[in-house]
Amino acid sequence: MIGALNHLAIAVPDLKAAVQIFRAGFGANISQPCPKPEHGVTVVFVELDNTKIELLEPLGEDSPIQKFLDRNPGGGIHHFCLEVDNVKDAITQVKSNGLRVLGESEPKIGAHGKPVIFLHPKDCLGALIEFEEK
Ligand code: CO
Repeated sequence: MIGALNHLAIAVPDLKAAVQIFRAGFGANISQPCPKPEHGVTVVFVELDNTKIELLEPLGEDSPIQKFLDRNPGGGIHHFCLEVDNVKDAITQVKSNGLRVLGESEPKIGAHGKPVIFLHPKDCLGALIEFEEK
């Protein structure tokens, strides 16, 4: 069911400082900051050969990553995203195996304009896993 690693997301309190680490520190190719008010984050994409890292900074009042940053003020790995052929089929499959999804079991349109769903971290080894449709 699961395919490639689409991205790894790191929540950061300070996007400029995070960019500095990846650009100056590692010599990585990095996109311009991309505000996504509908998702409550500003994103910078770090391009890797086989996947990308997304640096997420809170944007606006109700950012979904703010609680995580309250618990992890220095930042940390927030989630990783795996590609699936069909998100609705993936939801059906994981639920039939006793795993919970976050929200209403209905895919939402994610930050890349594709259907996504998040699985419950308590059912997934403490990791927040996102499924994104290919
Ligand atoms: Co993501």
